[in-house]
Amino acid sequence: MNLLSGLFNSSLGKKFLMALTGVALVMFVVVHMVGNLQFFLGREVLNHYAHVLKSNPEILWPSRIGLLSCVIIHITMAIWLTIENRTKRLTGYAVQDAGAASLASRTMIYSGTIIGAFIVYHLLHYTVLLQSINLTGRDFSVFRDVHGQPDVYRMMIIGFSNSAVSGFYLLGVGLLCFHLSHGIWAMLQTLGLVNETYRTTIERASVIGAGLLFIGYASIPVTILTGLVK
Ligand code: HEM
Repeated sequence: MNLLSGLFNSSLGKKFLMALTGVALVMFVVVHMVGNLQFFLGREVLNHYAHVLKSNPEILWPSRIGLLSCVIIHITMAIWLTIENRTKRLTGYAVQDAGAASLASRTMIYSGTIIGAFIVYHLLHYTVLLQSINLTGRDFSVFRDVHGQPDVYRMMIIGFSNSAVSGFYLLGVGLLCFHLSHGIWAMLQTLGLVNETYRTTIERASVIGAGLLFIGYASIPVTILTGLVK
């Protein structure tokens, strides 16, 4: 049995793949939040940042393909493990997972599914710029700044001024952070990085980290919706 089939054919291997792809996805979520927070530095800074990201296809496309591969592996392993666990439970072979007590851990597969739907919406909203789903009646693809670059700042202001859209984003990032409040701890545990002495501290740090991510992401729709940034 080679290493690859070993990884896919054992529960531990699948968990390991989930944890590894989870690390990459969490890193993306942190970097994307920091990038987005440049919104508060103004139109010039945010649009320049978006332009730099888009104008390096040799970095952009490998990153997109890597990210998509991680998402596909993460979701496939999650569904596979859920089905295996259900079958084991039905046949009486289920082993109680030590970390399976919290609500976040028991609902990982459901929060993950809604997060998936949110990400598809988000990509159609701000990457594909599909007018019919932004609920503002405006075509974001024609928004340009004084340099003739896509005006991402204006897209955010107009996009989040719709309360239904902002509400869906708050639900999406809320569930993402709820998912991560258990997910960060679980992936560190699977990778063997949780020492019993620091277990509680690491669990708390996961919840705090997820909370900070929520504040960072939610701050943009909230400040626009409440008129604090216009
Ligand atoms: C309030 C929260 C968020 C805001 C304001 C936001 C903003 C944006 C914007 C403006 C873009 C398009 C950038 C451009 O085309 O120049 C984008 C792309 C993207 N966002 Fe978000 N985002 C948010 C949350 C998230 C979350 C929670 C995730 C994933 C978990 C995510 C994943 C992505 C991905 C994968 C892309 C596509 C990047 C690419 O073009 O390859 N975003 N986001």
